Amino acid sequence: MKTVIKNISKLIQCDSNNIKFRVGKEMNLLNTISNAYLEIDNGIITDFGNMDQWKGIDDWNKTEIIDAENGMVFPSYCDSHTHLVFAQSRENEFNDRINGLSYQEIANNGGGILNSAKKIDEITEDELYNISLNRLNKSILTGTGAVEIKSGYGLNLDSELKILRVIKKLKENSPISIKSTFLGAHAVPLEFKNNKDGYLDLIINEMLPIIKSENLADYIDIFCEKGYFDRNDTIKILKAGQKHGLIGKTHVNQFNSLGGVKASIENGCLSVDHLEIMKEDDFLAFKGSNCIATLLPSCSFFLGIPYSPAKEFIKREIPINLASDYNPGSSPSSNMNFVASLGSIKLKLNSNQVINATTINGAYAMGLENQVGTISIGKKANFFITKSIPTYQYLHYAFGENLIKKVFLEGKEIK
Ligand code: NIG
Ligand code: FE
Repeated sequence: MKTVIKNISKLIQCDSNNIKFRVGKEMNLLNTISNAYLEIDNGIITDFGNMDQWKGIDDWNKTEIIDAENGMVFPSYCDSHTHLVFAQSRENEFNDRINGLSYQEIANNGGGILNSAKKIDEITEDELYNISLNRLNKSILTGTGAVEIKSGYGLNLDSELKILRVIKKLKENSPISIKSTFLGAHAVPLEFKNNKDGYLDLIINEMLPIIKSENLADYIDIFCEKGYFDRNDTIKILKAGQKHGLIGKTHVNQFNSLGGVKASIENGCLSVDHLEIMKEDDFLAFKGSNCIATLLPSCSFFLGIPYSPAKEFIKREIPINLASDYNPGSSPSSNMNFVASLGSIKLKLNSNQVINATTINGAYAMGLENQVGTISIGKKANFFITKSIPTYQYLHYAFGENLIKKVFLEGKEIK
């Protein structure tokens, strides 16, 4: 079955050159076609162009026509960093923070990641799947078409496997593209309070082999931060991941610069994520690598911590992308429209930079740049149609407004 979308006022982020990501000054590039059509066959983009060049329809019985009614078409957002499989929200901690406690103080009082881990122990795999699917569907309806999901709220063998199996089931049952990341080293669980190395051994010797044998993860992650794991732990985990064929995507420099950026890049990470606090050595570590910096502005917004110096990365020709960090503690929203708005409002990126950072560059941060992230022949037809908007810049300018009219994954409308 073919589908043709017609009357698109602007088709955004068209690419015929198989770009992998955009970096530096190229972040300003954005190819658009006015008064456009888009053709899809079997879930894959097969043609696009200006309405005047449209060849028309060969077989009316096998073609569905969708009128975009002068809305714009964007490739779906690619959200490369989420923790959307969690058991319960944490608005009690939110109120503690409003009343003056810091994220770290809340964690030290037994809240934070350990609080979420307790809740995962208590929930069944089926329940966890159902609430996670619900969250995933909500994120799809706000325009996300590819997502990475981390474990890390289990912190023991059974619960980490529970989360990863839920992610696997989401992959099997949802039309959205999903990558799975094992984040056993998210925090040191209470049972190992004075024995961090014992917990790392458990991750490396017990969790990883099972995860590998059940093919439960694509990537490996660690939270390199004071009070969690350090630079040496990061190297240890990344090397263990490599032995099992898992590339790294790490949490580094959220509150402190501990050498985790360099350690991650030297150990082959695809992305280093957060990067709110950057020292000169952290920037220099990117030299000669293809590692992307994943920035999470909604986490900074929610916690009231500094924003990552996005413009400095661009100036230094380090690739960046923006992701939601959707999780119950530091970013309880998966809405990439808001992330994109923050990209402009707080990170000072222009609209073209924001679109590159939330589409093709996000795809690259998940190893999905050949499948999603641009409007290109041969890629998945994951895109959204907006309401009629005056300019494409308007989408991120009018923050908080719902401007997405229809979303499509693999050519099918999702309702
Ligand atoms: O990316 N920083 C570590 N992990 C998450 C937050 C986890 C939580 O607070 O539950 C993050 O912000
Ligand atoms: Fe995170």
